[in-house]
Amino acid sequence: MAFPQNFLDELTARCDIVDVVGSYVQLTRKGSNLFGLCPFHSEKTGSFSVSPDKQIYYCFGCKRGGGVVNFIMEEENLPFPDAVRFLAKRAGLEVPEEEGDREAAFRRQRLLELNREAARFYHRLLLQPEGRDVRDYLDRRQIQKSTAVRFGMGASPDAWDTLLNAMTGLGYSKTELLTAGLIVDNKKGGFYDKFRNRLMLPVIDTRGDVVAFGSRVLDKSEPKYMNSTETPVYSKRRVLYGLNLAKKSKRPDILLCEGNLDIVTLHQAGFDNAVASMGTALTPEQIRLLSRFTKELVLCYDNDNAGKIATERALQLLNGSELSVKVLQLPRRRTADGELVKQDADDFIKNQGPAAFERLLSGSETGVEFRMAQIAGKYDLENDEQRVAYSEEISGLLSTLPGAVEREIYATRAAETARITPDAMKLEVQRARKRNIARENRAVLRKELNPAAQSQPKERSLRYENLRSARAEEGVLRLLLLDDGLFSQEAPLTEADFSSPLLGRVFSLLWQAKEEGRTTALPALAAELSAEEMNHVTAVCQRPESVRNGRQALADYIRVIQEASKKRSGGTPDPLLAAAEKYKDKKGEKRNDS
Ligand code: UTP
Ligand code: MN
Repeated sequence: MAFPQNFLDELTARCDIVDVVGSYVQLTRKGSNLFGLCPFHSEKTGSFSVSPDKQIYYCFGCKRGGGVVNFIMEEENLPFPDAVRFLAKRAGLEVPEEEGDREAAFRRQRLLELNREAARFYHRLLLQPEGRDVRDYLDRRQIQKSTAVRFGMGASPDAWDTLLNAMTGLGYSKTELLTAGLIVDNKKGGFYDKFRNRLMLPVIDTRGDVVAFGSRVLDKSEPKYMNSTETPVYSKRRVLYGLNLAKKSKRPDILLCEGNLDIVTLHQAGFDNAVASMGTALTPEQIRLLSRFTKELVLCYDNDNAGKIATERALQLLNGSELSVKVLQLPRRRTADGELVKQDADDFIKNQGPAAFERLLSGSETGVEFRMAQIAGKYDLENDEQRVAYSEEISGLLSTLPGAVEREIYATRAAETARITPDAMKLEVQRARKRNIARENRAVLRKELNPAAQSQPKERSLRYENLRSARAEEGVLRLLLLDDGLFSQEAPLTEADFSSPLLGRVFSLLWQAKEEGRTTALPALAAELSAEEMNHVTAVCQRPESVRNGRQALADYIRVIQEASKKRSGGTPDPLLAAAEKYKDKKGEKRNDS
């Protein structure tokens, strides 16, 4: 393991959860806990709680939780070791780095510096004679100089080793340049610049680090766009082009587009809230990143089939995210010979101007409107049978809307489309809604009949095998974390007694900490548990547990666990083993007889 445990103990003891979380979230005290708006998902009422006693945070909405280190990992988007370093700096503690880690952190830092130097180099060239072609290209695309500067754009020269020479001149090795994806191995012992004769678009993350490059050719050749490969400092799933600027926008929403240069044109036209996902489908990581900066997302994908599919996918992915979503559909453009062609945001602004775009933006449809139009497009509404099928599908969609007014408005609209009376459509929606509610009630009832099901972890890999035992195991952990006077000389259970491997592991980690005279608290276990595991264990620990009769309660829990454990090892499921067991018993009997 990277950091000594006693250092992590000291760190978590020095970084009070209320102080750390309090510098990101406004917290209000309610009873023994503090509450605020969850920083990890957007919400209007605070379901994010912080417990000073247990030194944990937990969100009842998105079910994320943990100690200080987990909080910084989530909030600052950092891997575990970097979150530890971040907190140590804040607390004024020196980090006892292992040689390997110090090296890895150093190498990462060097890569970021190299990227920054490369961006500077390309940018300087843009302003010099070598950047002439790229400057001309920017002119053709009506990109102003100030915009090019704001985006840190650059020019890669039409040569094989300009960057290679410049960067090795600054002391960077070929290995570093390869790792950064800036040069390519020609497999004959030579290397050459990856980006040549291109407009360079540095990709800058929300911390201001240059993590990668996008680039575009200046003519019609292929590939049109060439982007950095994944590197130790760049994962395309986690970055959005332009978010470094859009996060400072005064506009309330964020516009998500497809192309890099759409973003540039939009910013230049005053829509400085635009970002792009650089030729990949929207990812859950990007949604979480976005929800740190906005509550409303406007999807602005191309108005063609691929764009519509991408929009539908994004809507589905955004469904659980609590970001409110709108869809801006760009109209198609009629060419001189009367053909309808798609245009992207860049084309539209050039053809119609920023004011027209502003009108599109304020008139953008809600996600429901978009989906309704998609459903309508699937049916031939001149055909009676298809009108019935349309009404069924659309009432299914509308029945899931939470607001009665919303349902009424859209049902009336759908009725018009289907050419039936609004009352008939509303009735359909009501029926579908009743079916949904009945289905939900059945699910709730099932849960109530089986109260242990409520404590089933969300993650499939953490599912409990034996709910009765697992609930007792949870109780043991809660008690030990609340009152460390409950630890005895000898551990009353072994890890194997636990039916849940995760809870068993936490139990032995706590016991080990106690035996070594360290603190027994959840935050210090951040190094040992994955994010999902930590979320689950925190959920378990934030549930109420009385310590008043702690000793008795602990004994009761232990009894339940041991019974289940005995059953598990007694009733061997394997028939061969069982037979072998019997055979042994018989031999034993015989011996006793004689
Ligand atoms: P488009 O092909 O729609 O191009 O790609 P565009 O953004 O309109 O580009 P211009 O206006 O011709 O300059 C959309 C996005 O997909 C990614 C890029 O991020 C691009 O901006 N892409 C496209 C690639 O990564 N590689 C490609 O070869 C093409
Ligand atoms: Mn374009």
